[in-house]
Amino acid sequence: MYRIFDYVTIFPMRELILSIIYLSIRKTVILISYSIQYLKREKRDLEPAITFGDTFLCMFRRFPGHQLFFSFSMPKLAPTMLYDLSFPSPITFAAFKSEVPIMELWLKLGIGGGCIKTILKERRTGNPRPRIQEANTKEPLAIINAMGLPGPGLDYFLDLKRLQKLFKFNRPVGFSVGGCTPKEYKSNARTILEHIKRNNISNTYLEINISCPNTSEGQNLLSHPEMLKKLLVTLREETALVIGVKLSPDQSNDDILRFIDIIKSVERTFVNLGNTQAKLDDRISVGKGGLSGHPLFERTLEMINLAKPSGLPIIATGGITDAARLKVALKNGATLVGIATALVINPYNIPHFNKSLTKP
Ligand SMILES: Cc1cc2nc3c(=O)[nH]c(=O)nc-3n(C[C@H](O)[C@H](O)[C@H](O)COP(=O)(O)O)c2cc1C
Repeated sequence: MYRIFDYVTIFPMRELILSIIYLSIRKTVILISYSIQYLKREKRDLEPAITFGDTFLCMFRRFPGHQLFFSFSMPKLAPTMLYDLSFPSPITFAAFKSEVPIMELWLKLGIGGGCIKTILKERRTGNPRPRIQEANTKEPLAIINAMGLPGPGLDYFLDLKRLQKLFKFNRPVGFSVGGCTPKEYKSNARTILEHIKRNNISNTYLEINISCPNTSEGQNLLSHPEMLKKLLVTLREETALVIGVKLSPDQSNDDILRFIDIIKSVERTFVNLGNTQAKLDDRISVGKGGLSGHPLFERTLEMINLAKPSGLPIIATGGITDAARLKVALKNGATLVGIATALVINPYNIPHFNKSLTKP
């Protein structure tokens, strides 16, 4: 129905109105959630409100007339190419969610593609709660998390029938590869590659996450560039898929350049700049976490400018929380951008950002 019936022409301010409604509901839910936690003498925890928001959106999606709330057209732009992968919008979801209905929703809202969260081989519950909080920074739109890569286990996740739905949008959706040792990265990548082959998935890529600050081994490869090189070379021998490496904003500039050289030495690769920034925070159960959102942007921009002369395609991730920052990142040389916190705060940022790209 919505293919024939273009709601955009009828409700030109739709994303703005829906944003206001969504943000008001979000604020109320957070307030109620914090009040309940206070009454139960529990520590403040943002996670229940986020889970509620995701569940609410996914349930609402089933009601008649849901297209009015969730279906937006893609921006009328030339696609952005990452080798042979074609993104109809340069905005992608960063690897931070593995719930398929939520990723489907973002695709309906008009995101250009994205990367599924890092899922390790075994089922993991992640760190104890509270493990996600609104950040105590001067700047708004920031969160701190120490989720610790919770997930259902790679084999279980890949077996989910609904996973295939993500590839029906004909937009590139990648898999983030994690591990504790190079052997584990290789084994997890191979499991994903077998799944891709078995299911004839063509519109996909791998993103190697070597920069997770929230597990004890999540950054092992950052201190062993030679091992990363070996891993990339091995994977390149086994697949022609585009492969990216996600670096950390906590790396020094020299280190970023060293890693870019390594990534560039292998064909059909890109760099993702970058992950969350490690921060101490005693409101998180493990005493520290990864900062994301607004405060990361300056460093993201610095890293884009550092990486640009290499000619390696860049996915800029970190602090892209408004349309102005999105445009600055693209103008400075990002091929694509990745967003996470902007989606946690308001998924209607997708149509809003898309619209901004069609305006001067
Ligand atoms: C709750 C949460 C979970 C995340 N999980 C992952 C992950 O599994 N793999 C990964 O590469 N990055 C992960 N990230 C990092 C994001 O992909 C992104 O790089 C980071 O949040 C910076 O982008 P932002 O400022 O737009 O949020 C996570 C971030 C958040 C907030």
